[in-house]
Parts: sequence; C-alpha cells; structure tokens
Amino acid sequence: MRSNRVCNITGIKYPLFQGGMVWVSDWNLASACSNAGILGTIGTGGMTLSEVETNISKMFDLTCNPFAVNIPLIRPNAEEIGHIAIEMGVKVIITAAGNPGAIIPKLKQSDVTIIHVVPSVRGALKAEHEGADIVVCEGYEAGGHNSPHEITTIALVPQVVDSVDIPVVAAGGIADGRGIAAVMALGAEGVQMGTRFIATKECNAHINYKKKLVDAQDTETCIIGRKLNMLRVLKNNFAQRILDAEIKGASKEELLKIIGSDVNRNVSGAIDGNVAEGTLQAGQSAGLVKDILSVEDLVDSIIYEYGKAVTGLPVF
Ligand SMILES: Cc1cc2nc3c(=O)[nH]c(=O)nc-3n(C[C@H](O)[C@H](O)[C@H](O)COP(=O)(O)O)c2cc1C
Repeated sequence: MRSNRVCNITGIKYPLFQGGMVWVSDWNLASACSNAGILGTIGTGGMTLSEVETNISKMFDLTCNPFAVNIPLIRPNAEEIGHIAIEMGVKVIITAAGNPGAIIPKLKQSDVTIIHVVPSVRGALKAEHEGADIVVCEGYEAGGHNSPHEITTIALVPQVVDSVDIPVVAAGGIADGRGIAAVMALGAEGVQMGTRFIATKECNAHINYKKKLVDAQDTETCIIGRKLNMLRVLKNNFAQRILDAEIKGASKEELLKIIGSDVNRNVSGAIDGNVAEGTLQAGQSAGLVKDILSVEDLVDSIIYEYGKAVTGLPVF
C-alpha cells in the first residue's frame, strides 16, 4: 500500500484507520493500531472528560505515531472535548454524527487535521465546505450508528469521490485487504474499519462479544431503532424484541420501554459480556471475522491480502 494524500495529511504509514468505537476503542486498541502504522483512534463517545484526558495521556506515553480522537457530535460537550484534545497536543480529530458546521470552523482555528464522517454526497460537500481535510464516507454495511439514507459503501464511495476534492476514506463492510482493494479501485484513498478491530487481543470489548462476532455468519446483523437512532448490531434476544416490536409498529415510547433505563445496554453487551441482552454493535462484515488476532498480526495480514488482491486482478 503506497503512501498517498491520506498518509501525507495524517502522517501514518498505511492509509488505514481504526474507527473510533464508543466503549471499545480506548488507549489499549488505539495505541496498538498507531504502533502498527495505521491511525489508532480513541472513541470518546462514552467517556467522561477526565477519561478523555487519561486516554490521550496514555496515547502519548505509548506511541510516537499519529493518533486521532473521535468525537460524536451528538454529545453536548463535543466542542469541549475538541478543545481538550487540541490543548493536549492531539493532531487529528475525527468528528461524526452531527452538523460539522457547528464545530469544524472553531477547531480549525488551531493547527489540527479534521476528518468528518458522512453518509451521503451532501454530507461530504458540507464537510468540505466547512474545512474538513478528509472525509470518511460510511456505507449502510457499517457497525454502529447508521444513516436513514441506507446507501451502501460500493454505491456511495465513487459518488463522493466524484463530488469533492479532499481525499475520501471508505468505511462500512470492509474487514480485509480485498475490501480495501475494492474501495481503492472506486477512488477511495484510505479505509476506516471498526467491526474487524473488535476481534483483536488489544480491544477492551468483553471476550463473549468477540467470540459472538467470530461465530457470526453473514446474516447475523440487523438494523434496530429506525424510529430512534438507527444502529447496526449483532442479532440477539434484545435486538429480536426490538425488531418484533418495530414490525408491529411500536411507538418511540414503546421502544424506549423495551430498551429500559435501568441498564446501559451498550455497556452490558460490550463490556460486561451479556451477549443475549446487551447491545452488540457490529457491521455486515461480521461474517468475515474468523479469529481474534493481535493488532500487529491483523495489520500484517491486511497488507498481505491487499497486495494479493491487487496483483491478482484480471486484465481485460
Ligand atoms: C462497536 C462500534 C462502535 C462505534 N462507535 C462509533 C463512535 O463512537 N463514533 C463514530 O464516529 N463511529 C463509530 N462507529 C463506526 C466506526 O468508527 C466505523 O466507521 C465503522 O465501524 C466502519 O464500518 P465496519 O463496522 O463495517 O468496519 C462504531 C462502530 C462499531 C462497530
């Protein structure tokens, strides 16, 4: 994988990002990724401000390579997290799930690279207009929060590439070197993966979650919460109850009652390992995840597969 604009802008060796993942991408995973030559990312979604600071400090202790801080813009204190990151010396911020106009121009007053995640051409144009340096375009296959536009990665990437001048990083449904080769052919200059990195030794996700991901087949994710926040998850008892209620036309209030307020389903599934009743965010690439590897071995195998995929392409 050759150095390109994404590598030049971020300072990483390979144009591969470990996507920020709420609850399961703390400094353990992010530092291993940065040390493997890709962009490690702290997912601040579920962190307190003091946890954000601790995670950033740990990153500076554990790696000399570039890393990013991911900030979901639905967080009320998103801007504060951005300023903390910048003050602590973070050079790359990845924003997602919200209006980039509200934050990018403010953060760009400092010398920081801003990457914004979008689900559509319109979102990419807006991010570019607001000053983003790179856009991650994330298709409907992706794990975690999803867009009601439901555009797949293979359809979205070339349309975004044709619409913006800044580099495009593809996300959603990619879990190995073949997937990277495919989206690079569509004009992407990098890839962001989330789901694949859950099944790594360094990821802080509960082992039950990792094992359920490794055991998952192609049909074992679903979208829940179309009336709330769309989320792609592994199917389990909890997800099935939500799906059943949604088919019957349950209201927002009825769905919230099923979710319940006494327990955080994300923490219960991802951290405590309750794989029946917790929320297990994962993408459609789950069926490609066959083993729990160290980040170093995973990145090595991805680079090898990418080379094999590219050289093996037929010439017409
Ligand atoms: C468990 C999980 C949690 C996620 N949390 C976040 C998040 O907090 N912020 C964000 O921008 N994206 C989040 N994502 C999306 C990833 O950063 C990444 O874009 C996505 O996983 C790529 O698609 P893939 O899952 O098919 O690899 C999450 C994804 C997963 C699987």
